[in-house]
Amino acid sequence: MNILAVESSCDETAVAVVVDGRKVLVDKIASQVELHRIYGGVVPEIASRKHIEAIYGLADEALRDAAITRDQIDAVAVTYAPGLIGAVLVGVNFAKAAALTLGKPLIPVHHIRGHIAANYLAHPDLKPPFLCLVVSGGHTMIVDVKDYTEMEILGTTLDDAAGECFDKVARVLGMPYPGGAALDRAAKVGDENKYQLPRSKPGKNPYDMSFSGLKTASLNLIHHADQVGEELDIPSLCASFSSAVADILIPRMEQAIRQTGYQHVAVAGGVAANSRIRGDMENLCDSLGVNLYMPPLSLCGDNAAMIGAQGYYEYLAGNIAGMELNAYATKSILGEML
Ligand code: KG4
Ligand code: ZN
Repeated sequence: MNILAVESSCDETAVAVVVDGRKVLVDKIASQVELHRIYGGVVPEIASRKHIEAIYGLADEALRDAAITRDQIDAVAVTYAPGLIGAVLVGVNFAKAAALTLGKPLIPVHHIRGHIAANYLAHPDLKPPFLCLVVSGGHTMIVDVKDYTEMEILGTTLDDAAGECFDKVARVLGMPYPGGAALDRAAKVGDENKYQLPRSKPGKNPYDMSFSGLKTASLNLIHHADQVGEELDIPSLCASFSSAVADILIPRMEQAIRQTGYQHVAVAGGVAANSRIRGDMENLCDSLGVNLYMPPLSLCGDNAAMIGAQGYYEYLAGNIAGMELNAYATKSILGEML
C-alpha cells in the first residue's frame, strides 16, 4: 500500500511516500529553520505562509522522485494534531484536496504517534508492545505502546517539554534556534560535574517529570554570571545541563521497564537525537538486558515518512477521516481533546 504522507505541524514542510508502513520510497523536507532563526523561534504566521508556498511543489517532487504516478497512491495520511494551528491546517487542507481528487482514503495521524512510528521505518523487526520514551520540542512522556494504535501514557512532564528546555537554555547561551543540537555538540567537550543543577523529584506519579526547575536554575546561573562578570565554561554548563535532563528521564524509564516487564524499549522525537540521552538509554537497556530501538538521527526530527508509517497502521485499524477532518493545536496521543 503506497501512502502519500504530509507533515506541516511546525516549521518543516514534509511530504513522503511510504510502502506498507515500513519502506520509505521518498522523504522530502523543506525546512524553514533559517527563516525563523532571526526571530529566535518559530513565528506561526510566517510558518503557515511558507507551508502554503512549499507544499504543492514538494508533493510533485516527491512523486517524481518516488517514480510513481498519482494513480499508484492508495491513501493520503496527514498530521492533524497537535501543532501550530495555522501550520497544521495547511497540511490538512492539502491532504483533503489530494484525497478527494485521487478518490482515496484520508488518514488522520497524531504527530507524536508519528514520532513513535519513525522506529518502524528504522527497525523492521519492531512490533508492539513496547515502552517508548517520547522526547520532543513540545512533548515529553513515557508511553506504553500496547498496539500500533492502542497506547497508554504512563507519565508526562508536568510543565516544560525536554526540547523546549534545551532550546531556552541554548538561546540564552547565544546559540541559534533551535539550540538543542548545538547545545548537545558543545556538551561533548565539557565537564558535566562542573555545575550543580537540580533534578526534579518524582511526584505522586513516579513516571511524571518536571523540567521547569532545571530550566530556571540554568537560566539564573547564566544571568548571574553575566551580572557579576564571571566567565562561564559554556561546554561544561551544556554537559551539566544535558546530564541533568538525562537524570530526570532515565531513572523513570528504568522503573517503567522494570514495572511493565517489557523486553522492547524505544525512544522517539527530536530530542531522541541527543547524544547523552542516547548513550544513557543504551547503558540502561544493556544493564537490564532489554532491546533498545532508536530512530537514526535523520528520522528523529519532524518528517513525513513517520506520518506515512503510522498512517498505515491507522488505516488498518479503520481510522479514516471524512472531508470534515479538522486540525487541532492540542490533542492527546489517545485522541482526546485537551
Ligand atoms: O520532535 P521535534 O522535531 O519537534 C516537536 O515535535 O516538538 O523536536 C524538536 C526539538 C527541538 O527542541 C530541538 O532543539 C530538539 O528537538 N533537538 C535536540 C537535539 N536535536 C534536536 N535536543 C537535544 N539534543 C539534540 N541533539
Ligand atoms: Zn515533532
